[in-house]
Amino acid sequence: MARVDVVTGAFSYTGSFIARRLLAAGHQVRTLTNNPSPPPDLAGKVVAAPLDFDDADGLVRFMRGADTLYNTYWIHSNYGAGAFADAVLRSRGLFAAARAAGIRRLVHISIANSTASAHPYYASKAELEEALRSAGMSYGIVRPTLVYGEGDVLINNIAWVLRHFPIFAIPGDGAYRLQPVHVDDVAAIAVTAGLAGDNITIDAAGPDILRFEQLVRLLRQAVGSRSVLVKTSSALALAGARVAGFIVRDALLTREQLDDLRAELLISHEPPRGTIRFMEWLPRQQEFLGLRYASAQTRHQPRLSPLVRPAR
Ligand SMILES: NC(=O)c1ccc[n+]([C@@H]2O[C@H](COP(=O)([O-])OP(=O)(O)OC[C@H]3O[C@@H](n4cnc5c(N)ncnc54)[C@H](OP(=O)(O)O)[C@@H]3O)[C@@H](O)[C@H]2O)c1
Repeated sequence: MARVDVVTGAFSYTGSFIARRLLAAGHQVRTLTNNPSPPPDLAGKVVAAPLDFDDADGLVRFMRGADTLYNTYWIHSNYGAGAFADAVLRSRGLFAAARAAGIRRLVHISIANSTASAHPYYASKAELEEALRSAGMSYGIVRPTLVYGEGDVLINNIAWVLRHFPIFAIPGDGAYRLQPVHVDDVAAIAVTAGLAGDNITIDAAGPDILRFEQLVRLLRQAVGSRSVLVKTSSALALAGARVAGFIVRDALLTREQLDDLRAELLISHEPPRGTIRFMEWLPRQQEFLGLRYASAQTRHQPRLSPLVRPAR
């Protein structure tokens, strides 16, 4: 009998890469999702049910008989500080349902340096890690840095600004570092964490550490942008992001995201586990990257329950 695993969000971003890796390893995959459209290569291969946090019994029934739960559920910063407490509550409910269903191991996707920022996105991630550690289950906590790859948001949207605006504002000196990790590396690290026996908390980071200005220059070159790079104060860069955000009706960059970026929270202090090199991936994407704006918010908007509405 093939081993059965459950992935939350197998039709969305990181979850789809985890699902592909599990299927390739011969596991059966079920998913809890509100996304009605599987990526074409996963269609017909993954059994799906709604991720309905109000139906704890349904969650338990769906997970019964499965071995490992891979949890990618989280909300984006645009939903406002208050929404994170709900996301923690919901995730705790999911953990309890997994335990009641007899799930052996829970692999939870968190974020690198989760305890290093007091901002709600990070603080709630740290709180949830602690909740999992005391949930009485075998666990693997995987903490990615900045996830990139086909279909990502941040790298794509930097490229989008570079393609569509004559000026690109680099906040501050641009010397702060980040360590992107390819989404398939995150999936591989998560699946390895699922197969491990010990309770572990590990970073998922790629092999390259880049300075922000360097990253922007690489993207500018890759997409053939003529945008002029200007170093500005954070306030001016945020004002520019608000103007661009007005056009796409989204928050391109929040003050908190910028603070965390400048505090170098998107780098790992562990040896990198990812192997895919950003510089090798980038040239293969230059035709597509940044052609369209990618919104993490609208990706999930149609199916929002009243508790998790975007902040206006
Ligand atoms: N992207 C990054 O750079 C990055 C960096 C570090 C850590 N992470 C973490 O990695 C995990 C996966 O991130 P991802 O970018 O791959 O996310 P994603 O695929 O866009 O979403 C992951 C899951 O969360 C659900 N979800 C998202 N927003 C929701 C909302 N407003 N209401 C209800 N459900 C919602 C999705 O639902 P559906 O299945 O219905 O789509 C999906 O199941 C998250 O825990 C994130 O914090 C991401």
